[in-house]
Amino acid sequence: MQERLDALLSAARAELSAATDDAALEQWRVTHLGRRSEVTGLLRSVGSLPREERRAAGQAANAARRELESAFESRQAELRRSADGAQMDVTMPGYPVRLGSLHPLTRTLREIRRVLAPLGFRAVSGPEVEWDRYNFELLNIPADHPARDMWDTFHIDDKARPGELLLRTHTSPVQARVMEQIQPPVRVIVPGKVYRYEDRDASHEAEFMQVEGLAIDKHITMADLRGTLTYFVRAMFGPDRELRIRASYFPFTEPSAEAEMSCHACDGDGCPVCGGTGWIEILGSGMVHPKVLADVGYDPDVYQGFAFGMGVERIAMLKYGVTDIRSFYRNDLRFLRQLR
Ligand code: PHE
Repeated sequence: MQERLDALLSAARAELSAATDDAALEQWRVTHLGRRSEVTGLLRSVGSLPREERRAAGQAANAARRELESAFESRQAELRRSADGAQMDVTMPGYPVRLGSLHPLTRTLREIRRVLAPLGFRAVSGPEVEWDRYNFELLNIPADHPARDMWDTFHIDDKARPGELLLRTHTSPVQARVMEQIQPPVRVIVPGKVYRYEDRDASHEAEFMQVEGLAIDKHITMADLRGTLTYFVRAMFGPDRELRIRASYFPFTEPSAEAEMSCHACDGDGCPVCGGTGWIEILGSGMVHPKVLADVGYDPDVYQGFAFGMGVERIAMLKYGVTDIRSFYRNDLRFLRQLR
């Protein structure tokens, strides 16, 4: 009996793994577990065996039947699982993964650097906590000079050095730092954070970024300043931009010039972006004051040069059409994603 059961089981198992659809599975069930199946026949024949063999034969046949049943069930479950797999469309797009991106100010800053690099301007940096000497004195702004009112300053309350430290109000102090360190020719840009004791509104932040430019050599003239700035506004805002400079005042440049470009929104016709004037102010600039050159040890009779300073947020606002400077610092992803 046991031998027949073993043979039966191994044959049935082989057939079962060959069954790959519902019809074959049902066929198998009828053959091996149905009323006319071999196990059923064997179970029925138990009664006709000699009395002492019945018990063992009955147990073996029942065990074989249970094995067949459980083999059937697990094969059925297996086929269901792979049928589910076949129904899943593996070409379906997955859930989108949100990618991070650079902040619009970072991108603007990088673009400014990329535009100026081919002209030979190398980026350098300086401290944000600065000496009064660099932020003012060496820029021809003596203590108590009324020109200090141009920069509302955060002073640092240091008992050991009263009145000497402050948060730099512009990147211009790095002009003096660079010139103290190296001999001409000089061509640097200074990207960096600056601070002003300022009421914040749509066009003013107390903390913002500037990019300073400085070029010193033996034959630099205001025409070089003009040419550099014209190239700059065209690279940043398109080849049709015109540059105009208007007389201005900074203690560390003489002459000083406010640079404006023809409005990129209306092409100079006049619109809300340029306040109807057709021109947009983009930066302050000028020829480095001879006193500034002399104070860092350059001979102003031999060397001259130009400097300019621009607000990065302002450039970004113009480029992206942003009307409130504060929106750059609110970390509102809905705003930031719009500017990608
Ligand atoms: N430092 C000036 C400002 O912040 C800008 C400037 C830089 C002007 C260089 C002239 C030359 O207002």
